[in-house]
Amino acid sequence: MACRECPIGQYATQSVVGQGKLKPRLMLVGEQPGDQEDLQGHPFVGPAGRLLARALAQAGIAPEDTFVSNAVKHFKFELRGKRRIHKSPTQREAAACLHWLEDEIRLVKPRALVALGATAARSLLGRAVPVMLLRGQWLAREDGLRVLVTLHPSALLRVREEREAAFEAYVRDLAQAALPPA
Ligand code: URA
Repeated sequence: MACRECPIGQYATQSVVGQGKLKPRLMLVGEQPGDQEDLQGHPFVGPAGRLLARALAQAGIAPEDTFVSNAVKHFKFELRGKRRIHKSPTQREAAACLHWLEDEIRLVKPRALVALGATAARSLLGRAVPVMLLRGQWLAREDGLRVLVTLHPSALLRVREEREAAFEAYVRDLAQAALPPA
């Protein structure tokens, strides 16, 4: 809550840490809390979270088998009138938050990780990852934990054409995570 290791924290309502099962089959990591998550204090409770829940259900992944979290623990936004518009965290901000994420991974002890989008992939793997090229594939961290890379659910909310096909491709990515490699 009191973290000021980067400038984001002072403007957010609260920090939003991960939530879910300990020792889960999968720990899914997004970018940062959105507007709803910032207000409610829980990860993935807004529109992106609803889309993710629907995709996970179709991929055969039960919420009870997961822990969901974010690479950055505070909401970063820009005020436009009364609206708070999401702004992506900078690399420095994500790097400042990394030790919180790594502490979570150590405490939660997931069998495998899912990186939802480029910010999460960079934080989890320690390097820039071409998400569109490697989506649906398992990569490995230095500590041996496997990371499945896919898109952030917000990217699907922005799709204008062939939304159904984009959603089905997302479910196919996540279905890889339903069977983590041994
Ligand atoms: N987007 C994220 O990356 N995380 C959330 O918790 C909500 C939206």
